[in-house]
Amino acid sequence: MTVLKILTYGNEVLRTPSKEVHKVSVKIQKIVDDLFDTMYSYDNGIGLAAPQIGYNYRIFVLDLAKDGEPPNPAVFINPKIIKKWGALSSFEGCLSFPDVYTYVRRYENIIVKAQNLKGRSFTLEAKNGSLLSRAIQHEYDHLEGILFVDHARSRFETDKLLAEKGLPQINSDYLMEEEELEKEILEKGSNSIQNEDNIPRDTPNCC
Ligand code: CO
Repeated sequence: MTVLKILTYGNEVLRTPSKEVHKVSVKIQKIVDDLFDTMYSYDNGIGLAAPQIGYNYRIFVLDLAKDGEPPNPAVFINPKIIKKWGALSSFEGCLSFPDVYTYVRRYENIIVKAQNLKGRSFTLEAKNGSLLSRAIQHEYDHLEGILFVDHARSRFETDKLLAEKGLPQINSDYLMEEEELEKEILEKGSNSIQNEDNIPRDTPNCC
């Protein structure tokens, strides 16, 4: 069992696009084991991507089981999001950004294709802005070198939080405008940043 140190925002590995996995070698198996061990060492850890522990391979793991439920580990190798639609505002954190939580734009629904540890392909649909849907998008981004703050709905609010935690500011080169998603979120109403401030912020998951 190896609990590794999670790389924090500012580390270049987090910005490096990851390589495909061609074979589940001993090394890849070890990375998967270390991802689970490291993720489970955090109370609020529900997912972790290989770059976060220093490996630029296209692998992430999830376990969305709640406290008291049996573990439900899932491995995604070479994932591809093949369809995405609908928009929502998602309150997120990331284990690479200690104690920073902010509202980001996400798709409501996705279909993802990936391989499991045996190399078998599977397809998964995650809908209605579920935790599963949002977690897969968050983890998939890590494999592309994209981080959750790149989707921030409020750049200045997020920069303020980053500064408070001594982390680098949002980099304009990576910031996504996502005008269509933002428009859809606003059209649906009840999701303005002001209204969101009334949402309790005490139980965010991290991945
Ligand atoms: Co993350």
